[in-house]
Amino acid sequence: MKKQHLFIGGKHTESTQYTTLQAPYSGETLAEVASASAEETEAAIAAAVQARRTMRQMPAHQRAELLYKLSAMLEDRKEEAARIVALEAAKPITAARAEIDRTIETYRFAAEEAKRLTGETIPMDAAKGGEGRIGYTMRQPLGVIGAITPFNFPMNLVAHKVGPALAAGNTIVLKPAEQTPLSAYYIASLLQEAGLPDGALNVVSGDGKTIGDVLVEHPDVAYITFTGSPAVGKSIRGKAGLKRVTLELGSNAAVIIDKDADLHKVIPRCVTGAFTYQGQVCISLQRIYVHQDIIEPFIERFAEAAKQVVIGDPLHEDTAVSALITSKDVRRTLEWIEEAKQAGAVLAAGGEAQGGILHPTVLVNVPRDAKVSCQEVFAPIVIINPIASVDEGIQHVNDSMYGLQAGLFTNDIQTALRAVDEIEAGGVMINDIPTFRVDHMPYGGVKQSGIGREGVKYAAEEMTELKFVMFNRN
Ligand code: SIN
Repeated sequence: MKKQHLFIGGKHTESTQYTTLQAPYSGETLAEVASASAEETEAAIAAAVQARRTMRQMPAHQRAELLYKLSAMLEDRKEEAARIVALEAAKPITAARAEIDRTIETYRFAAEEAKRLTGETIPMDAAKGGEGRIGYTMRQPLGVIGAITPFNFPMNLVAHKVGPALAAGNTIVLKPAEQTPLSAYYIASLLQEAGLPDGALNVVSGDGKTIGDVLVEHPDVAYITFTGSPAVGKSIRGKAGLKRVTLELGSNAAVIIDKDADLHKVIPRCVTGAFTYQGQVCISLQRIYVHQDIIEPFIERFAEAAKQVVIGDPLHEDTAVSALITSKDVRRTLEWIEEAKQAGAVLAAGGEAQGGILHPTVLVNVPRDAKVSCQEVFAPIVIINPIASVDEGIQHVNDSMYGLQAGLFTNDIQTALRAVDEIEAGGVMINDIPTFRVDHMPYGGVKQSGIGREGVKYAAEEMTELKFVMFNRN
């Protein structure tokens, strides 16, 4: 049985405690995984502190080289990496491969950003008293970054924290999701092989609260970057004091379909948005608002497409939807579906589970306060409701405690521009689903969807301190 130790100061370090990691789909035991104590987490922070100077002094071209190397190594071992994701996250293998492709690109973007972190010159004589002075800004690494990552993209969301942190010359203590630690340790091993100095990346798996509390409250950790639930995000914000935090939280992402939309194109995109990786994506399409003139054919064709989605073993090439991350989530989502039906919603597809797999589920005419509408469902469940106009759709989109990304399909430019102005979200996708993301674009939310932005350049900037310098020539 594989024993996965902690990774501290460049060494695979035995822990005092291990837990069994099982594949969500098959129940197969994948590894005995270290569960770090508070003291072990402190040791990881101490190792990151020790490596701070080395990373701070490493020239940008070397930091870039390391990240390019990691990217190339992943390219060579794509299939091996994809299988780790498929097994520990129950991510269908084709989606797991797509995640690895994105991860390779994310580290490449990070390598490029390492060379692009710049300051600016300030025209000092624009103010009376500024004459004869030279002013400029520079970006310096923050020091130790505490990164807490979720289960749903165990390679690429780790890359979104590790890549920018190293690009900017920081060191990291990474706490991966309890369900998917193997991907994070895999990346740590590759980075070590690529030549990353000992202590620059430390990985501590285990209990979220034990490790998270130490990271968030420790005076030597300069910054916390977290992706996960709003409840944990709020608790981190409460405990972090003056420490900087970036929080990427959940959403109940919505799309509006105008009456002129081409259903031929729109329906397959919406099916992808709703059911990719079992809907366990922060920008998964959860709410569809369709113009009343086209809602009947839309529902009929969408429900038919949902029934065609292939469910099964994540390692099978044709599987599109596999097991939810825990059996608790299967029970929760079945209860939420039942609650919506009791409140008058009509089930158009799915609504039942097979082992750990929830069938792709479509609910129509769902009241706004049903959990499948107003909470983050994180499962292959989508609601479809009619609207009389795009303006009504915008009101529904905004009637949410979340605001990560939203979509609108329309051929009317004025309608599109109005929606861009009025939709309350971190990103608006015109003629696409809210689930659209490539890895260099800014990514983050408003309201309870979080604070701060990821996307490699934006994350790298957040992981630096802006320093102002003035030379007096007088
Ligand atoms: C997320 O679930 O927040 C990440 C979505 C993505 O990277 O596509």
